[in-house]
Amino acid sequence: MKIFESFNILKKEINFKQNIGFVPTMGSLHRGHISLIKIAKKKSKKVIVSIFVNPTQFNDKKDFIKYPRSLKKDILILKKMNVDYLFIPTENEIYKKGIKKKINILKKDRVLCAKSRKGHFEGVLAIMNRLMKNINAKYLYLGEKDFQQIYLIKKYLQKSINSKIVSCKCIRNKKKLPLSSRNNLLSKNSYKRSEKISKLLFNLKKLISKDFKNISLINFYKYKIKNLCDKIDYLEVRNPNNLSSQISVKNFKIFIAYKQKNVRLIDNI
Ligand code: PAF
Repeated sequence: MKIFESFNILKKEINFKQNIGFVPTMGSLHRGHISLIKIAKKKSKKVIVSIFVNPTQFNDKKDFIKYPRSLKKDILILKKMNVDYLFIPTENEIYKKGIKKKINILKKDRVLCAKSRKGHFEGVLAIMNRLMKNINAKYLYLGEKDFQQIYLIKKYLQKSINSKIVSCKCIRNKKKLPLSSRNNLLSKNSYKRSEKISKLLFNLKKLISKDFKNISLINFYKYKIKNLCDKIDYLEVRNPNNLSSQISVKNFKIFIAYKQKNVRLIDNI
């Protein structure tokens, strides 16, 4: 596996190659990332993974500082998987003078995490724009746990980049809790409570499929979930095509963001 820290050297190595698959990450790799890399390896000749904990997508500095990092372990995992290239840029390499740290989104897109984590997606779009334009991969692999992230990257960046975005299913543990690097920050008790929340969300999905106009269902589940966490940022049912609240019985997704102490978790079902 070749490791790069600068765009220039990386570009010399990969730009002429046709079928490159790109898996962007913030490290602290888990089975969710591993599954993305496996999909990328099947579809693309060469695979590049990036690890960069992007400061501009954290609306809270403390959250940025405590975000789990395990670079040595990550490198071992990637080597074992025979990943071709690893890109681990420094902050200076990414945000050189004149490089945008945020890309604005429209008011109508400021829903769910774009509303409750102000500035987060603006930072995600900026880093993805920077990475995509330089890496110029044929395919970009993203996990559906971050459904709104995929939606906004497609909406705001798809036109200006050459890559096709491949949306890959969310990987969950046996109790249906989505895998996330942030799970490492949970106490045993909070982890169990989060698993219970996942179970409730799957139940709620079934009930809404039977009676999708029953708004009191959501409130009832909000109440149940509230007893298993410290704060619910949102629990909403939306249309997965445009994230509006216009849903139909066959076309809806439940979105949630909640806090276990100061660890913020998200899910969509
Ligand atoms: O989903 C993530 O890990 C990050 O938001 C991403 C896409 C790597 C951008 O920093």
